[in-house]
Amino acid sequence: MDLQIDGNAALVTASSSGLGKASATALAREGVDVVINGRDEDRLAAARDEIADVATGEVIAQQGDLTDEDEIAALVETTVGEFGGLDHLVTSAGGPPSGPFLETDDEDWYAAYDLLVMSVVRLAREAEPHLQEGEGGTIVNITSRSVKEAIDSLVLSNSVRMSVIGLEKTLSQEFAPDVRANAVLPGPHETARIEELVEQGVERGEHDSYEQGIEDVADNPLERVGDPMELGDTVAFLSSPRSGFINGQSIVIDGGTTGANL
Ligand SMILES: NC(=O)c1ccc[n+]([C@@H]2O[C@H](COP(=O)([O-])OP(=O)(O)OC[C@H]3O[C@@H](n4cnc5c(N)ncnc54)[C@H](OP(=O)(O)O)[C@@H]3O)[C@@H](O)[C@H]2O)c1
Repeated sequence: MDLQIDGNAALVTASSSGLGKASATALAREGVDVVINGRDEDRLAAARDEIADVATGEVIAQQGDLTDEDEIAALVETTVGEFGGLDHLVTSAGGPPSGPFLETDDEDWYAAYDLLVMSVVRLAREAEPHLQEGEGGTIVNITSRSVKEAIDSLVLSNSVRMSVIGLEKTLSQEFAPDVRANAVLPGPHETARIEELVEQGVERGEHDSYEQGIEDVADNPLERVGDPMELGDTVAFLSSPRSGFINGQSIVIDGGTTGANL
């Protein structure tokens, strides 16, 4: 299927690794010019080279911290300055620390809110006029299946990410009809984040070993964790006119892990 986004421009945040990188790769393969982002310059440069190998458009890497308002504005400015517009905004971010509620303090809560929610607020605000200018502007927020079903030892993710869904639903109404907004809700995918969570679970005694931990998180009807590109391809589809009547939705990509009917 031709996604009909060749020549468009995208900003994908937190994309030097994992799900953001996979989303940027999927867009770049379709001929979209992409700005990618992360804090660590070496990791970012390596990701740019990897994506450029399969891209048919341009790939620009811009270092920036998503908790910094000015660096967020600079990401949008670079995309528009280099590519002449911004058609697709894909928001990802790092994950908040894991652990039980009583081990979190106020600082942890504010930090999680800043990283996961305020980054999306600021990106949407900066991107909106440019998204409206193009034909078929889209926003896709990468969040977590934790908004559908609370996950053990992830109180910050379970709580704070709900705000992103409320925001996404509101944007799908306020930015329409020219801009659509949707969210993807990943379950376990093979990225650095899932390795980190399993390692922390082993330290807390929740899994007997790392291997056991990976088996535990892959406990779903498909009996495996997701390939990041499976999520990336969905993000590219949601960014394309091929999904033109999908708006304000939260799509769970978890191999059927989540038990909720809807
Ligand atoms: N993978 C999963 O199984 C899974 C499941 C559910 C939800 N999620 C969520 O999906 C999101 C992405 O996860 P992932 O698996 O892609 O993780 P990942 O492979 O660890 O990648 C995280 C990316 O975010 C960047 N990043 C982190 N903090 C940043 C900041 N303050 N400013 C700019 N960039 C930042 C990292 O680069 P630098 O560190 O260099 O900045 C990296 O590029 C996370 O919120 C995660 O919790 C993941």
